[in-house]
This record gives sequence, C-alpha cells and structure tokens, in this order.
Amino acid sequence: MHTIKKHRFGPVEAFELGFGPIGPPLMTAFMYVTDGTVIDTGQRRMGRYVAELLGNRRLNRILLTHHHEDHSGNAGMLARKHGAVVMGHPLMADKMRTGFNVLPYQHYMSGTAGRAEVTPFPDRITDGRLRFRPIHTPGHSRDHTVFLEEENGWLFSGDLYLTDRVWFFRIDERIADQIASLEKVLKYDFDALFCGHRPCPSGGKKRLRRKLEFLREFHGSVGALADSGYPEKAIIRKMRFRSDLKIRWITMGNAGFNHMVRSSVRAHRAEKLF
Ligand SMILES: [Fe+2]
Repeated sequence: MHTIKKHRFGPVEAFELGFGPIGPPLMTAFMYVTDGTVIDTGQRRMGRYVAELLGNRRLNRILLTHHHEDHSGNAGMLARKHGAVVMGHPLMADKMRTGFNVLPYQHYMSGTAGRAEVTPFPDRITDGRLRFRPIHTPGHSRDHTVFLEEENGWLFSGDLYLTDRVWFFRIDERIADQIASLEKVLKYDFDALFCGHRPCPSGGKKRLRRKLEFLREFHGSVGALADSGYPEKAIIRKMRFRSDLKIRWITMGNAGFNHMVRSSVRAHRAEKLF
C-alpha cells in the first residue's frame, strides 16, 4: 500500500511518501518543494510517483539533508530528468556516487539506495527570493545538514528533530553530536520546522528546544548512573521508558534504545577524559 499525500504550508509544498508491500507503510518521509528547490527526495520505491508528482516542473537544485535512503532515493533520477544540481555535505559524495548497501528492513520500506553526483553546497544557496543557509548538524549521521531560510523563518531539518522524546537510536548515531547540533541550530531564528518525517509548520523552535532538553536530561542521567558504577546493561534496564523490542526486531538490531544509552556512556567517558 502506498502513501502519497500532498500538504501545503504557505509557499512550501510537502509530499508525504511511504511504501508498504503488505499493509500501510511503517513510516513516511517528506519531500519538500519550494520554487525551483527540492529538499530531500523520498524513497526509491516511490520514484515513479515522485516523477509524476513533479511532472515537468523547472527544478534548479536538490538539497539533501543526509544520505539515508529514505531522503536521497530519488535525487539522481530527479537530477537527470530536470537537469538539476544535487547538493549535499561533502561527506556524502562518495556514498552517493557509488551507492551504498541497505539493510533488509530499509530495502523493504525504501528500496535500494539511489545514486547521484553530489556537489558541495556554498555558504548560501540562492533560488530567486529564497536564500538557504546550510548548517552542518552531525549526530544522526555524520553528513547531516539542515537548511535555514532566514527571511521566512523556515528550517528544513531532515532527521534532526523527529520527535520531542526519541526512544531509539541507530547504531551509528551520536548523542553528544546531536546535542551540539541542536544547540547550534537553536541560535538562529525560525518558526516552521520542516522535519523529514513530521512537519511542524509553526512553533518548530519550541519543539527542537524540547528535544534538546530531553537529550540533555537523558545524557545527564546516564552519566550519573555510569559514575555510580552501573554497567551499561544495568543502565539500559533502569532507563528504558518504552519497549523497543519491535523496532530491534524489525531493524535486526540496527536501531534500539541500547544504542542511545551506549552512545551516551561513550560520550560521557570521553567528556571525563578532557
Ligand atoms: Fe535518517
């Protein structure tokens, strides 16, 4: 079953895309379009629909928040079809050129990873009246970048937000980097948070602040337990506030609460060294 929903937030069009071979999709992803700029491109499995949705529009550039397959899957296809430039952080260029392996659950939901030639973005990206400031925000992935349109107060935030209280991490996520990235972004002014999976058209800055507070508190509590001599497994047992069994099972261990605690314990140890 496919999900294709069109939303409009003022001049920003948002296309909600999801693929579920059996039943409704487990997760949807957003592709945003404003003037000639596309921000993230959805899953490759949704490529046919993405091509139809955008028709023969004049597209100048595709901005990628990060390389993950549910965000970058159709970048190459759209670039070829519309003669658009794909822009992203230099850290994603090699991965996007050669393609990358995806796990079975990722393949199930998104299909294979797309390929594209990625050009590093300049300090400011101008599209008519719009000016996007890329801000590197590692933590969810090393290449993660958000795009701020200051004039309108829009933040295209990829997977920086997701929700106020996250309860699982992917194995490669880093909590200390996420905290630093949230602090960095919160220094800017914006109101609309165009999240990759959950848009907040107003009050977005408050939502990001809530996530920062939650992560700081979580990191502090894990650190306190680690300092009291609790081993990692005991911290996981003590801190778990929601069952992550289903997510661990679906992702074959690639995502879970344990990764959140582990990242926090490691960061805490590193903080104590310096
Ligand atoms: Fe992601």
